[in-house]
Amino acid sequence: MAETISIAVLAAGLGTRMKSKKAKVLHKAGGLTLVEHVVDAALQLARPEQVAVVVGHQAEEVTAALEGRGVRFATQTEQKGTGHALSCCEELLAPAGGLLMVAYGDCPLLRAETLERLAESHRVQGAACTVITTVLDDPTGYGRILKNATFDVTGIVEQKAATPEQLLVREINSGIYCFEAPLLWRHLGDIRPNPASGELYLTDMVEILVAHGHRVAAFPIEDASELLGINTRVELAVADRLLRERTARRHMLAGVTIEKPETVSIDSGTAIGRDTIVEAFARILGATVIGEDCRIGSGSILTNATIEDGAVVEPFSLIADSRVGAGAKVGPFGRLRMQAHVHENAVVGNFVELKKTALGAGSKAQHLAYLGDATIGEEVNIGAGTITCNYDGVKKHETRIDAHSFVGSNSTLVAPIEIGEGSYIAAGSVITDPVPEDTLALGRARQVEKKGWPSRRKSGK
Ligand code: UD1
Ligand code: MG
Repeated sequence: MAETISIAVLAAGLGTRMKSKKAKVLHKAGGLTLVEHVVDAALQLARPEQVAVVVGHQAEEVTAALEGRGVRFATQTEQKGTGHALSCCEELLAPAGGLLMVAYGDCPLLRAETLERLAESHRVQGAACTVITTVLDDPTGYGRILKNATFDVTGIVEQKAATPEQLLVREINSGIYCFEAPLLWRHLGDIRPNPASGELYLTDMVEILVAHGHRVAAFPIEDASELLGINTRVELAVADRLLRERTARRHMLAGVTIEKPETVSIDSGTAIGRDTIVEAFARILGATVIGEDCRIGSGSILTNATIEDGAVVEPFSLIADSRVGAGAKVGPFGRLRMQAHVHENAVVGNFVELKKTALGAGSKAQHLAYLGDATIGEEVNIGAGTITCNYDGVKKHETRIDAHSFVGSNSTLVAPIEIGEGSYIAAGSVITDPVPEDTLALGRARQVEKKGWPSRRKSGK
């Protein structure tokens, strides 16, 4: 049986180079915070109770971002360096022994398969510690890997402390390590403060292990992008693009057509069914789920939306926390929010907003309407310019429009109000009283005609 794997994710730093009020690991790339990406990769190898996240800056927010994953947290009150951060996990992780992996919370592109390959390489090489490394054209900012004649790692030197000769080394420290856990915990306390910064650098463990006669191996990987450590907003943008490319690729390989994928933003947590077409510049965010054979129009933004099979979202529509039924159509320029539900085969046209409103199967609101806090039955026609007046300045009120009704253009429905089944509202009405079923309601002034008035006005008589 393979030994227990524990993983420490270091995420306590503020990330000064981000120039942000928000802790670095809380910044988002590809729709999730940086630390969520790392923890999710860790959870594919280790049991939740063997994953410890070191929190410090905005500990509460970082803990909240990881809620529900069952991982454990260690607090590092003062950020005294990566070596000190790891020591904060000792109580949580040391008892399990086995292998201890360390990953930094600012490395969101790291894949679980790579961690698996690291453990495998570590076992095969029989080292005390194995470091993931890669060779970069521009290694600026990263710690450099120092090796001896037999290619074992003898040390890691940080950019700031490196000699001009060491700066020429292009093999860099990813910050992802696999340690023999008992050895690591035995020697972690031997790290001395860095003379320049006073911090305890985890990278110093390499020299310490070597001094005790242990071997440290490198595990070089080719796809350097996976090791990108985010320190600035420029790197954040690169990570965001790469993560979204990865997600778009996953969807395309699973049968989704994406036009100009480089223009589309799709978050990692989304699901899209086969033969759905995503047009250029669409944004599909959060936990959005899209069925099969749908079309998502250019410039549309879907956030936590559910789109059922065969539905069409025309360009420039905004759908948030809402559902579009099978075969229904929304947009162009449609807006659904706060649990709006467009039932199957219903149509929401241009400049129509639905807030907390259900539009029944086959019903249509084709143009220019606001429907808020309303329950609308099947096969209802909502004319252009219809407004549900759901707010009286203090409270929100509900509107009910029953099946097969017809609401004429420019109607104002003052809630709370009910319109019975099969009724008609005359165009331009202001409706303040409930309308029974099978009734025509007119709520407007009768037309008055004054014959000859225009010519009398012109002649001044
Ligand atoms: C670190 C490595 C460097 C490596 C690079 C890879 C050290 C000394 N240097 O540098 O060799 O090439 O990562 O990206 O380890 N953290 C804490 N507590 C602390 C300090 C840091 O939890 O006291 C966390 C941070 O939140 C961050 C991670 O550790 O997620 C790395 O810290 P960072 O300051 O970004 O280290 P780098 O300078 O990038
Ligand atoms: Mg970093």
